Amino acid sequence: MHLHISKDDLEGATTAIIPGDPARVEKIAREFRNPKFLKQNREFTSWLCEADNGKKIVVCSTGIGGPSTAITIEELALCGVKDFLRAGTTGAIQQHIDPGTVIIMTGAVRLEGASQNIAPIEFPAVAHHDWVRVLFDSAKELGLKHQIGISATSDSFYQGQNRQDTYQKGFFLRPLQGRIEELERLGVLSLEMEASLVLTQTAAYGLRGGCIAGVIINRHSSEVITEEATQICERNVIQVLKLAVNKLLEK
Ligand code: URA
Repeated sequence: MHLHISKDDLEGATTAIIPGDPARVEKIAREFRNPKFLKQNREFTSWLCEADNGKKIVVCSTGIGGPSTAITIEELALCGVKDFLRAGTTGAIQQHIDPGTVIIMTGAVRLEGASQNIAPIEFPAVAHHDWVRVLFDSAKELGLKHQIGISATSDSFYQGQNRQDTYQKGFFLRPLQGRIEELERLGVLSLEMEASLVLTQTAAYGLRGGCIAGVIINRHSSEVITEEATQICERNVIQVLKLAVNKLLEK
């Protein structure tokens, strides 16, 4: 319906890498064997490629936020995909986490609305342990700075993530006031906009979901995201996901 791809287009791929940004799809696909363009519609760009052992992988962008991420997972699952890896960026809220660090998520706080159409809010957004294991092993093997833990997913980049540099100069509705401090005290590592969708939907469907995100900003020091930090994160995340996907598909 939205991705404009069919099961035949996927040539038996059961693994999907799902970045948010359509511009990252080709870059990711080109890290694997035999990359080829599939389709582009709205925020959904898809490419097909192969792991080292020849198994097919689909790379497809989700766009920003829960609703379009839910569409991506739904339509890929209908085409036979069983394993989903989100690859994105995030803003750290713990003081000690530097930009460039790779966050490997074990779970996500569901501060968005879309996943409540799939499972009640009491249902946990948890990563599949196989993804956590291969992502951790890969980051360690590559010697890249990494953190494992819980992220929080908001469907608002500005107010929902308590940004001060808004039109209304940091005015937040009462339920959103102090959100970052509260999450920080609860040990949450970072904020982003899609992970809880991926982890709720895959867990509820009995599929395997994982999330990795590069830290492009630490909210204790800045609200400004630089192109340099984004490039470094993209490189680190791609290195880890390439190794991790090959490890997962080895078996
Ligand atoms: N993505 C987000 O949603 N927030 C950030 O601060 C950085 C990336």
